[in-house]
Amino acid sequence: MVRQPFVVAVDGPAAAGKGTLAKRLADEIGLPYLDTGLLYRAVARRMLDASEDPAHTSGLEQAEGLSPEDLLRGDLRVPEVDRAASLVARQPEVRHALVGVQRRFADERGAVLDGRDIGTVIFPDALVKLYVTASPAARALRRYLQTGGDTTRPGWEEELREIETSIRARDEADSAREAAPLRMAEDAVMIVTDDMDANAVLAEAIRIVRERLAAA
Ligand code: DC
Repeated sequence: MVRQPFVVAVDGPAAAGKGTLAKRLADEIGLPYLDTGLLYRAVARRMLDASEDPAHTSGLEQAEGLSPEDLLRGDLRVPEVDRAASLVARQPEVRHALVGVQRRFADERGAVLDGRDIGTVIFPDALVKLYVTASPAARALRRYLQTGGDTTRPGWEEELREIETSIRARDEADSAREAAPLRMAEDAVMIVTDDMDANAVLAEAIRIVRERLAAA
């Protein structure tokens, strides 16, 4: 039997709490952690810097030229990169070029990876697959507060509604695309985080990991 690296796949839509969970889970179980959204963001960033429009230009060259430093840049979580990364993530040749990077990351010691297609495409045999989600309203509020929002400020409801609209649009784009759309793997365990804080989500994930290890 081929020995599989110990992989925990954490998938789900934006702002459901999967990044926080994946990072803390990785610390807890002593595995390296990769936020795979950063790969798409870094490709998008390189394209924008080169004045390439990801709606009309292939990001393959920028994906092939990606270096580890590109993932450390501070300007990967800005709205223009949100939009560009979502377009880049639709390109099958870019997704294909990033498969090897993601698989190699887990080669030596295993890993916790979060993204959209980790349990379905990148590691279909992952020992543990989690699908972390929440309602668009709960995710919008979380994103709003994370980015310095304040629910005592006049007009906050309008700001929150705008965030929810953009979250719904991105969900739709990520789920409707042809290349590796966002969907839950059949053998994933769903965690709905609307009424859970980060500690409760972590505790639930650890319980699921233990259960899977005991069954393996
Ligand atoms: O998780 P995030 O918002 O940082 O992801 C950025 C974009 O990349 C988003 O549009 C979803 C896409 N993505 C993807 O298609 N597959 C992944 N494994 C991770 C992210």
